[in-house]
Amino acid sequence: MTGFDAAGAAYAAHCAGGRGRLRHDLVERRLLAELPERYARILDVGCGTGEMTLRLAAVGHHVTGADPSARMLAVTAGRLAARPELAVRVRLVEAGVDSLPFDRAQFDVVCCHGVLMYLGAPDEAVARLARLVAPGGLLSVLAKNRTSIGVREALTGDYEAARRLIGSGADTSPGNLGLDTRGDTAEALDRLTARHGLVPLPWQGLRIFHDHLDDTWAPDQAVHEAALELEWTASWRSPYRDMGHLVHTLARRPGGGA
Ligand SMILES: C[S@@+](CC[C@H](N)C(=O)[O-])C[C@H]1O[C@@H](n2cnc3c(N)ncnc32)[C@H](O)[C@@H]1O
Repeated sequence: MTGFDAAGAAYAAHCAGGRGRLRHDLVERRLLAELPERYARILDVGCGTGEMTLRLAAVGHHVTGADPSARMLAVTAGRLAARPELAVRVRLVEAGVDSLPFDRAQFDVVCCHGVLMYLGAPDEAVARLARLVAPGGLLSVLAKNRTSIGVREALTGDYEAARRLIGSGADTSPGNLGLDTRGDTAEALDRLTARHGLVPLPWQGLRIFHDHLDDTWAPDQAVHEAALELEWTASWRSPYRDMGHLVHTLARRPGGGA
């Protein structure tokens, strides 16, 4: 099905490391700041090993996790089984962005985090996702930042690769799982969502200062919290956010009293 059937264990290890945790904490913090306090109907497309699906369910939202990889979904199901109190608020669907079994604007939030980078182009996916956002609802997209391609290579000392990527203005580079992944700019994603009737909100750049560390980086709680506050503060401001490995864009569909 997808290369992710084989990459599941590597991805789980990445998520458990310091860099993965930073990313999930930053995204969750922003989502919770934008979400209504009452429970929201959330669709997490490309939910992978279920980190955000479970985090959002744990604070009371009703979350549908969708992923085309049966192996990834099995990891999520296993984690859900260990949290039986969440089961009533989570459902899992084996589907990709192009085969979602939903056909109307029925979600208060549609998340698509860390997925667009594996697709050839974002246009069709964003169109499908935007269609599912209810009036007043949000589309949350976490993508690889095209603007910063080559920075990771430069900071890890792979100068030749960095020079090649930066010099050619490449839009793809090797990702965490060894697969080549494609970058998008926040501005282009905002233009796309606007084309589908959504109003872009301020975007953030993520993993600005920590992307060059490897997955063995395991900060203690105090260091993690300090790193998180630094990243959060810088995430809103250029030129810092432009250097983030990831961009988190959000856009809201007008209406619905929001
Ligand atoms: C890097 S993981 C991200 C998982 C999770 N969203 C997160 O942020 O931790 C990418 C996920 O996208 C899924 N995926 C691959 N192609 C997809 C597609 N066409 N539609 C939806 N998900 C896809 C993979 O199976 C994998 O679980």
